[in-house]
Amino acid sequence: MKKIAPSILSADFARLGDEIKDVALAGADYIHIDVMDGHFVPNITIGPLIVEAVRPVTTLPLDVHLMIENPDQYIATFVKAGADIISVHVEACPHLHRTIHAIKAAGVKAGLVINPATSIEHVRPIIKDLDLLLFMTVNPGFGGQQFIPTVLEQIKIVNRWRSELNLEFEIEVDGGINAETAKLCADAGVDVFVAGSAIFNQPDRRQAILSIRQAVQ
Ligand code: DX5
Ligand code: ZN
Repeated sequence: MKKIAPSILSADFARLGDEIKDVALAGADYIHIDVMDGHFVPNITIGPLIVEAVRPVTTLPLDVHLMIENPDQYIATFVKAGADIISVHVEACPHLHRTIHAIKAAGVKAGLVINPATSIEHVRPIIKDLDLLLFMTVNPGFGGQQFIPTVLEQIKIVNRWRSELNLEFEIEVDGGINAETAKLCADAGVDVFVAGSAIFNQPDRRQAILSIRQAVQ
């Protein structure tokens, strides 16, 4: 079953609880939360306080995407705040094996994120330890950017590695995802589709989620 993960980065932050309830009712599978520190990426967004505040609002898994330097330092805090999946960028982790295992040891699912211009060879040594592999399909930092199609080739290769090795981690995409680009990603082997503006900028969230779901099934 393909999964849809609305990114709250495009939600109305003055009404965040209601926005999350709205997409949950509209059929979301995960709630994607973009944490940015103004160092690893040029934008500053959400911290653990917001994760903690939205935790009681939904039973859906909170898919926390850390776009921060020194993610190791914050794993325990995000777990305590209620994260179910914590994903870290390969570019931000000099001791990636340690970081991925620290996330798992903290009792949540571990995801690895890879930027559009980062070699997928970085994934190989850690591939068996992942619960999720997130391909950025834009350069991280902002919602509403345009999908970068060259990532599709990288996804296809990793999807092949996954079947050859008989692994079950989920492949997720994030950035510029709408019904049309989601279909291209689904054909390349993607399971989880993050969408911010294509869901939250639409008045009818049920219809927005449905059109992505129909495109990928
Ligand atoms: C980008 C974030 C995304 C962002 C996606 O750095 O990681 O999750 O919210 O937004 P859209 O779907 O509008 O490209
Ligand atoms: Zn994200």
